[in-house]
Amino acid sequence: MLTDKEIVEIKEHLKHYPRKQAAVIEALKVVQEHRGYVSDESVKDVAEFLEMTPDEVDSVATFYNLIFRKPVGEHVILLCDSISCWIMGYENVRDHLKDKLKIDLGQTTEDKKFTLLTIPCLGACDRAPAMMVDNELYGNLTPEKIDEILDQYK
Ligand code: FES
Repeated sequence: MLTDKEIVEIKEHLKHYPRKQAAVIEALKVVQEHRGYVSDESVKDVAEFLEMTPDEVDSVATFYNLIFRKPVGEHVILLCDSISCWIMGYENVRDHLKDKLKIDLGQTTEDKKFTLLTIPCLGACDRAPAMMVDNELYGNLTPEKIDEILDQYK
C-alpha cells in the first residue's frame, strides 16, 4: 500500500503531466525516497495508482538505472562503464572498488554501507573514469582517489 504521504507527493507530480501514466518515473522515485528501493509490491501499488499494468511499471523501473529494484546500502556507488571510462581505466577502478569493498558489481557490503552498481555514461567523459556516490559526481578516478572518496563516507 502506498502511504498517504507518498500519495500526496505523487499527486503533486501528476499536476505537471498531461496523463498520469507519464509520471511513472516520478512516482517510482517518490516510493524509493521513502523506502530506499522499489519492491515488487510497490511496483504493483504504483501500477494500480497510475492505472497501468505491473509489467509496464516494472519495465520502466528496470530500464531506469536510478530506480533500485532491490534493497541497497546506505550509499550507492554508480560506476560508469561506458566507452570513455573504459578507455581511461575503468577496469582498474572497478577492480579497486571491488577489492576495497570486498563485493562484486551489483552487491552490497556486509555492513550495508555501500552498494556498487554500474551505469551508462554519466556525462562526465572529460573527467573519465567517473562515478557517482549518491548524488555526488567524482572524476579522474585513481585507486588513491577512490580511497580518499570512500573515507569521506565512513
Ligand atoms: Fe564515463 Fe561518459 S563514458 S562519463
